[in-house]
Amino acid sequence: MNILAIETSCDETAVAIVKDGVEVLASQVATSAETHRKWGGIVPEVAARKQLEFMIPVLTDTLIQCPDYDAIAVTVGPGLVGSLLIGVETARTIALATGKPLIPVNHVQAHMYANFVRYQASGQNSSRAKPRDNHRPITFPAISLVTSGGHTELYLMTSPKELKWLGGTIDDAAGEAFDKTARIIGLGAGGGLAIQNESLKFKVQSSKFKVNLPRPIINDNTLNFSFSGLKTAVMREWKKSVNRQSLMVDRKIPNNVITDDQRSTINDQLIALYAYEIQEAITDVLVTKTLHAARIHEAESILISGGVAANARLRDKFSASINEQRLTVSFFSPPPALCTDNAVTIASCAFFRGQRLPWQSVKAEPALSSET
Ligand code: KG4
Ligand code: ZN
Repeated sequence: MNILAIETSCDETAVAIVKDGVEVLASQVATSAETHRKWGGIVPEVAARKQLEFMIPVLTDTLIQCPDYDAIAVTVGPGLVGSLLIGVETARTIALATGKPLIPVNHVQAHMYANFVRYQASGQNSSRAKPRDNHRPITFPAISLVTSGGHTELYLMTSPKELKWLGGTIDDAAGEAFDKTARIIGLGAGGGLAIQNESLKFKVQSSKFKVNLPRPIINDNTLNFSFSGLKTAVMREWKKSVNRQSLMVDRKIPNNVITDDQRSTINDQLIALYAYEIQEAITDVLVTKTLHAARIHEAESILISGGVAANARLRDKFSASINEQRLTVSFFSPPPALCTDNAVTIASCAFFRGQRLPWQSVKAEPALSSET
């Protein structure tokens, strides 16, 4: 069955057609992220207007690639109401005009279905590799971590259809922690990706600077997360480090004369240190809690998804920790393009656990719970 899916929960306008929940026949994503950058965060009104502008071109491009579909799926929530409405009204209109079934989808839960999609392994000769070659079967029970800009949730999956929510963040999401701390250390709206890139410049052995950041509620034995304390700690420590560093610089340089180059080298080192430590703190918490859930539920697979799952350090840390702790569990992480928002996951989720509803009953639900 081919499902045409529409995703407009935030600042991405995405449309895809996926066969049987696993095979991508067409996928398009447009984003208004650049437009929001100058405000330092997403402006809902602007995001909604951009959704309206992008919807028809993105839909048309997708349908040119693949005009055949049997049902329509759409993200109904959680998300920004103005953005959601564009996708939902488009999907309702297509359902009304074509008489095809309509399937409402929960955006947060949909993220994890990126792991069910077959994709080509990177590094293989793309002209020769078959799209299905890279896929290992997911066995159950599985623990699924969804970690994005707005959500950090753990689920138990007993089949591709059956989900049980186990825990989630009690304040900021992991992606939000990346985004807010990136701003504090001067990386603007670059978020987690900017932190990942900066952290690569940090030389652990040779650094003159040190900072200890907390790993909030890492060992509290619950499956909940908390990241707002980390943000506060970064704010406090960053101020101290910047002050200490200017003192050090002033003392070291004769007559307090310091060139712009010297100052910027020291600043760069400090930013790289903080980026590295922030990434370590967030990934330590995500890995520890997820492995704790896997042990409790005797999981055979661990799936990660959502924008933060694109983080290379997080993926490496999961693999390394599973090996070190000798856990007999298979680890799955989608390619980065399927971690961030897209419509492929919406189509896949609709295929595996969606329920068809009359188009009149499908409504935008901005505050839809990710727990049910
Ligand atoms: O899933 P997503 O595209 O949107 C939401 O549903 O929220 O996730 C966006 C989040 C942002 O917080 C962004 O900073 C984070 O994913 N992110 C990353 C990386 N790429 C995106 N965080 C850490 N490392 C990355 N490489
Ligand atoms: Zn998302």
